[in-house]
Amino acid sequence: MRILAVSGSLRRDSYNTQLLRAAQELAPDGVELELYDGLAAVEPFDQDDERDAPVGAQDFRDAISAADAVLFATPEYNSSIPGQLKNALDWASCPTIREGALWSKPVAVIGASNGAFGAVWAQAELRKVLSASGARVAEAELAVGRAQEHFADGSLVDPELRRGLAETVETLLDAVRPALAAA
Ligand code: FNR
Repeated sequence: MRILAVSGSLRRDSYNTQLLRAAQELAPDGVELELYDGLAAVEPFDQDDERDAPVGAQDFRDAISAADAVLFATPEYNSSIPGQLKNALDWASCPTIREGALWSKPVAVIGASNGAFGAVWAQAELRKVLSASGARVAEAELAVGRAQEHFADGSLVDPELRRGLAETVETLLDAVRPALAAA
């Protein structure tokens, strides 16, 4: 089983990216969790090119299509999702919703911020965008507030958050298994 992990942060020392690295460690045997590294290269969305996307946007679409599920970790910027993530999702939702890479794709959303609430507004916004794109959004939530207190040397050290993260991955896998069994 292949899960694509997409961090909405382009920052080198991003807590959201670190959260996805922790998810890689916690993924059960037989599950490959691959961190997507092409977000910065996704071109600005232009509907004129929706059927013939430029290379960075097509790479994002292909990475989603090749995955059985997608785990997103988003920061919160001004109470919403990062612009570059929204931009990439717009490419992945077209040319028509049913032809889009996100259509019917099992996805889950988690988030970290250095404020108290763990990017909950951005997570809600992201779930809304993913639902509108036809993705199957898993009933899972993990909000890592005051992220700077829960990571040390790039690792998630809080045992409760590690447990919550493992449960989130498991919930996402539960959403994938029936589709794989039916295939
Ligand atoms: C932020 N940050 C932030 N945090 C939050 O909880 N709510 C918010 O609305 C915002 N708004 C915001 C706007 C801008 C422009 C920046 C740069 C930052 C703080 C943000 O959550 C923090 O920098 C996180 O550490 C970013 O995530 P990564 O890069 O660590 O994954």
